[in-house]
Amino acid sequence: MSETSIVVLGSANMDLVVSADRAPQLGETVTGRTFRTVPGGKGANQALAAARAGANVQFLGAVGADEYGHRIRQLLAAEGVEISGLVDAPEPTGTAHITVDGAGSNSIIVVPGANGTVTTLTDEHRGIISGATMLLLQLELPLKLVAQAAAFARWAGVRTVLTPAPVVPLPDGLLDNVDVLVANEHEAGVVAGRTGGVTSADQASEVAAVVAKRVREVVVTLGEQGAVHAATGADPLRVPAFTVDAVDTTAAGDTFVGVLAAGLVDGLETAAALRRASAAAALAVQRFGASTSMPSRREIDRFLADRDT
Ligand code: RIB
Repeated sequence: MSETSIVVLGSANMDLVVSADRAPQLGETVTGRTFRTVPGGKGANQALAAARAGANVQFLGAVGADEYGHRIRQLLAAEGVEISGLVDAPEPTGTAHITVDGAGSNSIIVVPGANGTVTTLTDEHRGIISGATMLLLQLELPLKLVAQAAAFARWAGVRTVLTPAPVVPLPDGLLDNVDVLVANEHEAGVVAGRTGGVTSADQASEVAAVVAKRVREVVVTLGEQGAVHAATGADPLRVPAFTVDAVDTTAAGDTFVGVLAAGLVDGLETAAALRRASAAAALAVQRFGASTSMPSRREIDRFLADRDT
């Protein structure tokens, strides 16, 4: 690959996915329908989504020297993601233990494994990030590393997009180095310090306006209610969702972020990039799994063309 536009510093997991009519309650056993292993992880998912949308992508992270790590490497490389900065760690590949219920909703427990060994921003990371246009970060690598990477990217003049998932209270200063925060309604509520959550587009707009005082741009995704965008000095933007039948919402948010990033580095206006991201997420929720669900650039184009006619 000649030129890297997007660098993703993030997690790679093997998703161990059980489909069942419903998730068990505490202390309960239910019978599942299927079990599959699917490459995932929020970082690898965002990298794949951006690459399928047409961006030049480099992935930085760690997997174990095991079968899961081998499958993740093979998939990323086959999809054109540059993986020279994906190291073999002395821990097993991270795993995500996922239950998908009959409505397509999921619950996930992540065991970090190799992802937890990426504790320091190396000279190699710095060199690769400084050659990029955009850095994508999530919170499945150690928080201190994420903060270091955002600070370095700000110093190097590289635009940073943070997905605060899985959400935790953010360390002081991290948001100051983020250019675009993309959060779902729950994550946005936590980042804004709001109790009681965010359930409507109006509330999401309020939260986005609060967070936009610290981050240049904020996108709050609301599933079937679409997304809202707020930026300092710009009118708030509402992005409607496309109505589709969801079979599995896993990685829909990662698909949204990867395709949004691909659109922005491609020079699209924010509203157009958000519309493509929303279309890609609508396509992803109609398919099973994480890496199995992200659409290609052509599929996104066709989906949008069908909606325009
Ligand atoms: O966002 C979806 C991802 O979260 C899954 O692929 C799983 O690996 C967890 O990291």
